[in-house]
This record gives sequence, C-alpha cells and structure tokens, in this order.
Amino acid sequence: MNILITGSNGQLGNEVRTLSAKHPNHRYFFTDVIETDGVSVLDITDNKAVSAFVQANAIDLIINCAAYTNVDKAEDDEATALKINAEALTVLGSQGVKVLHISTDYVFSGDEHIPCRETDPVAPRTVYGHTKYEGEKNLLAVCPEAVILRTAWLYSSFGNNFVKTMIKLGKERHELGVVFDQIGTPTYAADLAWAIFTVIESKVWHAGIYHFTNEGVCSWYDFTLAIHELAGVKNCHVRPILSEEYQYKTPRPHYSVLDKSKFKKTFGVEIPHWETSLRRCIDVLNLSD
Ligand SMILES: NC(=O)c1ccc[n+]([C@@H]2O[C@H](COP(=O)([O-])OP(=O)(O)OC[C@H]3O[C@@H](n4cnc5c(N)ncnc54)[C@H](OP(=O)(O)O)[C@@H]3O)[C@@H](O)[C@H]2O)c1
Repeated sequence: MNILITGSNGQLGNEVRTLSAKHPNHRYFFTDVIETDGVSVLDITDNKAVSAFVQANAIDLIINCAAYTNVDKAEDDEATALKINAEALTVLGSQGVKVLHISTDYVFSGDEHIPCRETDPVAPRTVYGHTKYEGEKNLLAVCPEAVILRTAWLYSSFGNNFVKTMIKLGKERHELGVVFDQIGTPTYAADLAWAIFTVIESKVWHAGIYHFTNEGVCSWYDFTLAIHELAGVKNCHVRPILSEEYQYKTPRPHYSVLDKSKFKKTFGVEIPHWETSLRRCIDVLNLSD
C-alpha cells in the first residue's frame, strides 16, 4: 500500500516512522505542517493540498497522527482546535481511501468508575475533547469504513511529555507534588504504533471504533514513582496531592480507563502492561542520552 502519515513530527508520528522500517512491504509518505528530515509539508486542514497529495502519490491509506493536542490552549483557541481536530477529518475522510484515525479518552466525562467501552455514551468536558469527538463524527459521516483508535496518557522518547518532564523535574527538585486522584493508563506511543500496524496488516479491514492503551491502571503519582525508579532519579521526594491543589486550567477526568477487550478480541493480540512499556521507553531514552 501507499500510506500517507500526517503529523509525522509528533510523538506517535515518529513512532510510526520508526516502526515502518520493520514493514518494508508498504511505501510511506511522512508529512506534517513543518518540513523536517524525511517529512514533507502537508496541512490536513488544506482540502486542495490533501486531495492533490493523495492523487499524485496514489495513496491507499491515510494514518492521521496529526492533531491539536494542547488541552489548555484549546480552551482559548477553540477555532483552531476545531479546524484541526474536527473539520480536517471531513477533508481526510473524503479522499476515497482508507483512513485510520486516533482519538482520545477525553471524549468521555471521566466520571465513571469502570473502564469505558466503545459503546458507552460520550460526554466531553473540554474543548479538546469536544473537538476530538466532532472529528470522530465528521470522519464516520463521510468514511463509515474508517478505523478510529481512542487512546490515553500518551508518552514517547520523541517530543515533550509527562515522562520526560518528571525525569527533568526529579533531577532538578528535592520535592514534587503529583496528583493521585486521577486514574488512567499510561500508553507508550510505540505500542500504539504497533497497534496501528496490527490493524493495517490484518487480512480483513475491521472498520469501527476501538480503545487502545497499555494494560493496567495507575494515578499520575504512581506513574511518577515508577518513572523515577526506572530512570534512577533518587533524590526527589514525590508527594501525592489532590487535583484541587494543582489548580488545572482545564478540568481533567478523574477516571479515564479504557476497556480494550474489543481490540484484543478482534485482532487476537495481548497488550503489554504499562510498567513493562515504560521500562522500554526509558531504556530508549537512556540510549539516546
Ligand atoms: N498526547 C496524549 O496524551 C494523547 C492522549 C490521547 C489521545 N491522543 C491523540 O493521539 C494522537 C497523537 O498524539 P501525539 O501526542 O503524537 O500528538 P503530537 O505529539 O502533538 O503530534 C501532533 C502533530 O500534528 C501536527 N499538526 C498540527 N496541526 C497540523 C495540521 N493542520 N496538519 C498537519 N499536521 C499538524 C503537530 O505539529 P505542531 O506541533 O507544529 O502543531 C504535531 O507534529 C492525536 O490524535 C491525539 O489527539 C494523544
């Protein structure tokens, strides 16, 4: 297949790029809004440019890793978030090719106490979550055969993320307060990239919405302790705090665990536990130090 990857400079885009080396049976076209080494420019909100790119390169499949991901900024810039996370999905879905898109746990309210299934009612509480949900709907309206993978708490050795921030702060500070009343599942973007290849290498195209994160659950506090332990950060006391002490600009879900049964059953796979994958990511970070 000729595969177009959007948002290739991001965490997930980079992981897809890394993993694509192990799948030489396809031809890849890596794109983003900014040109970098091996990545050409393609703005997913530009209908004409996307159509021209898809036609010129006889694209068979679009993997959409592009998004407006800054949850706090989105509150003040809804128009841009809507354009990238919602309106662009009509553009990508209207090209007459397969689409694999990534969505988020933020489509749910986070008020539940059991893992969310794909069929559970959505109730986004943030502009980011709202725009991502609109994107899902827009895509399915024009491309009902699309695959949507909803994920959560993404980190990687690429880009800025919670893992890297906690290692940095842990080295700089003697004490750190981290919230313990938000529960979710950290997800290594390399594993999400593996999930994407699992979908596209499957003999049958299983259209629909799926949930994919690593296995297990924890709070951001537990996650930080594990990060420091694995990264060898020793002189920082991590203190559990309540969300209200942190004073978030945007409300955060208290419980955003996704039920991955559908993905595992459909594709016949097991998913690594978050601690196993965190160890792999920190090994990669240590190697690149
Ligand atoms: N990060 C998380 O914790 C998390 C959690 C749940 C779901 N997700 C979803 O997972 C997916 C991947 O997330 P990620 O963390 O890899 O995101 P990321 O690191 O922010 O990467 C997104 C990439 O898309 C690019 N982009 C922005 N606007 C674009 C446009 N108009 N056209 C083309 N590219 C554009 C960004 O460029 P700029 O940086 O220059 O804007 C960036 O390189 C997204 O769909 C996100 O919503 C993420």
